[in-house]
Amino acid sequence: RFKAVIFDLDGVITDTAHYHYLAWKRLAESQGVHFDHAFNENLKGIDRMGSLDLILASSKRVYTPEEKLALADEKNRHYQELIATMSSADLLPGAVRALDVVRAAGLRIGLASVSKNAFTVLGRLGITDKFDYVVDAATIARGKPDPEIFLKAARELGVAPEDCLGVEDAVAGVASIKSAGMFALGIGHPFVLTQADVVITSLGDFNLESY
Ligand code: BG6
Ligand code: MG
Repeated sequence: RFKAVIFDLDGVITDTAHYHYLAWKRLAESQGVHFDHAFNENLKGIDRMGSLDLILASSKRVYTPEEKLALADEKNRHYQELIATMSSADLLPGAVRALDVVRAAGLRIGLASVSKNAFTVLGRLGITDKFDYVVDAATIARGKPDPEIFLKAARELGVAPEDCLGVEDAVAGVASIKSAGMFALGIGHPFVLTQADVVITSLGDFNLESY
């Protein structure tokens, strides 16, 4: 019944969340801000500057826009060092099978990640050519939970939002899919992804016919 499937990247196709965690932790601690896995959960699906603002909210200092940009760049350089050694071994179980199932069913395939490193990560994973359209995060004005990124993917794929299935692991991402008027498949836990239409543990359980 769907005409397109639009995937998130981080946490759905590959587990870059751990690399983001390491890079944010070093940055936060350099500013005297405590950072742990629980806090990192709040940052899933949130863009770079939005994440930095959430971290610096616990700091006593006030930062100028220039200082914030420098900190965001520092975090990104560290993150890029960490992802430089990624390969197809970093694909999450079921990810390639899900992409191939969607392709075989004749549906269009999009990628809607707010990460400005998405093209690099896709390249390292070796799956760039599996997508008909990849949103360039640099062209997106409002990050998730705003629907902008999923709506842009649908428009570029030439498919109406109601004919799209969105796949997301983050609360903010599921909210973005739902406000875009799409069917939301959550990857994770139903207690967390309460807005999703269906929740599965991983793409290993992806079954296009049952949504
Ligand atoms: C999202 C991640 O996909 O991309 C976030 O879930 C990350 O954790 C965001 O902050 C932005 O990524 P980048 O690579 O542009 O800093
Ligand atoms: Mg994600």
